[in-house]
Amino acid sequence: MFSPDLLKNRNILITGGATGLGRSMAFKFGSLGASIGIMSRNEQRLTATVDDLKKAGIEATYHVADVRNPDEIHSAVDAMEKESGEFNTLVNNAAGNFISPVEYLSPNAVDSILNIVLHGTFYCTLDLGKRWIERKNGGTVLNIVTTYATTGSAYVAPSAAAKGGVLALTRSLASEWAKYGIRHVAIAPGAFPTEGAWSRLAPTKELSDRMLERIPFKRFGTHDELTDLAAFLISDGASFINGEAVVIDGGEAISNASQFGFLSSLSEEDWKSIRELTRKPKS
Ligand code: HXC
Ligand code: NAP
Repeated sequence: MFSPDLLKNRNILITGGATGLGRSMAFKFGSLGASIGIMSRNEQRLTATVDDLKKAGIEATYHVADVRNPDEIHSAVDAMEKESGEFNTLVNNAAGNFISPVEYLSPNAVDSILNIVLHGTFYCTLDLGKRWIERKNGGTVLNIVTTYATTGSAYVAPSAAAKGGVLALTRSLASEWAKYGIRHVAIAPGAFPTEGAWSRLAPTKELSDRMLERIPFKRFGTHDELTDLAAFLISDGASFINGEAVVIDGGEAISNASQFGFLSSLSEEDWKSIRELTRKPKS
């Protein structure tokens, strides 16, 4: 689908890049010529992913940092840039989430999601953004949000509030930082099974099956489908896309908003009698 050197001049920092979709993006971007830096809290997972990336011939480095801590981010970026050169692309992918009725949450639970998703994304963007503004070479930021960043969602309200904030940040900086050559894009994924998401959001087969039911294609997204979109959006091929959040969900969000979508359960017989009822009577 892409020329193999599409991301040849990119040095890409992916937060939460050791697992799930972040890990898959690291492999896709690396296979297209980029060098990769990954950053999260669990060192074991970081080293395992960097080892695997290197085995695949991809230049990769890592540093432990909690995105809730701006000092840790700053030191991690310093260390990785010293090792493998200046970053010119940032993927804000790290997130925290779990399903819960809001009334069961403690303030600390709310803070933990808002701080990882909204503050973490903001701090990483600020850290890299300041470097890029000083260097005058521009940069690209890809933020991973969710389809419910625009609609909100029951039972994941802290995540929805935080992702909505990240979407607003994407659009705000698309305007404000364009003058520095910094481009902002976002992806709003639907359901892409990962250990991290499924263990917290669909921990039983029944819940997972019910998520599947909502998707018109009756299948989940594949990591390749998402990483291809991500590769395109961060590449120079998308250089005039700025401030846009691309939904990739197999039509799930619009389908479930569809006023008459419930009619898909009607049979041919039902439609025959409905046609009789709804056609204009012949006078
Ligand atoms: C209720 C919970 C809870 C749960 C934690 N808490 N899990 N409350 N239900 N399932 C509460 C704790 O009791 C605590 O409050 C507070 O939240 C913080 O919990 P900690 O475990 O101390 O926090 P921390 O170690 O910082 O871990 C953060 C986390 C954890 C978000 C809670 O799940 C995590 O590390 N997640 C990272 C990976 C992740 O979430 N991936 C999924 C992303 S999927 P008290 O008051 O007791 O101190 C996604 C979009 C999916 O974002 C969309 C799919 C369609
Ligand atoms: P995941 O594997 O759990 O990824 C989350 C990553 O964030 C982990 O690697 C985690 O690593 C890191 N992280 C969490 N808290 C952190 C912190 N405080 N500091 C630094 N890193 C932290 O889940 P995923 O499904 O791949 O999710 C990736 C992204 O896609 C997230 O933004 C998520 O909201 C979004 N998304 C996913 C889906 C889906 O269906 N999977 C749908 C919509 C949106 P550590 O725990 O080691 O720190």
